[in-house]
Amino acid sequence: MSTPTDRKPSRPSGTPPEGNGKFLLGMIGLFFGVLLLGAGATMWLGGSSSMGPAIGGPFALTDTGGKPFTDKDLRGSYAVLYFGYTFCPDVCPTTLNQLAEALDRLGPKAKLVRPVFITIDPRRDTPGVMKQYVQAFSPDLIGLTGTEAQIGSVAREFRVYYAPHRTGDGPNDYTMDHSSVLYLIGPDGKFIAPLRADAGAEQIAADLSRHLP
Ligand code: NI
Repeated sequence: MSTPTDRKPSRPSGTPPEGNGKFLLGMIGLFFGVLLLGAGATMWLGGSSSMGPAIGGPFALTDTGGKPFTDKDLRGSYAVLYFGYTFCPDVCPTTLNQLAEALDRLGPKAKLVRPVFITIDPRRDTPGVMKQYVQAFSPDLIGLTGTEAQIGSVAREFRVYYAPHRTGDGPNDYTMDHSSVLYLIGPDGKFIAPLRADAGAEQIAADLSRHLP
């Protein structure tokens, strides 16, 4: 067969080299990967949960009064969920302001919708901190926190990305990277559609009213 000095491949001509086979497998993998990604994106943008695992699900958290609050407490109303944290320097306060303004624009229909802010930084965002924070945006804004495990669970259900980002050596020297999406939930507790969080109050109001009766 081959000796260490024999560099010439000794396979019969016409057989594709092993490298090509791996390449082909790689391409097939890539093809299906893209296909899956496409299906995921279509599902995401269409807001349909008929394909793949559904967005949302049951959760058990704590409200700003320190009392248990679950997904069942939102039944009977539409809800808009937003995940963020109170120390957020820009995106969270901007989004919560826009959401509050969007609900104002809806007029009487706003009564159908409950805005909910869920922290992804439960270590700092205690019920007391959350209470102070949500009151600054709207008396109707529900603030929810929980244990690391409870927050991790609800974030997974809604496919929320979040991760601490160190800014120094102290225990509080961190910010949180996080995805920014508004989730519209129906009165039955089922996910209806994602709403663009950066679209501005007018657009958020328009997107919301399309789904309201
Ligand atoms: Ni934020």
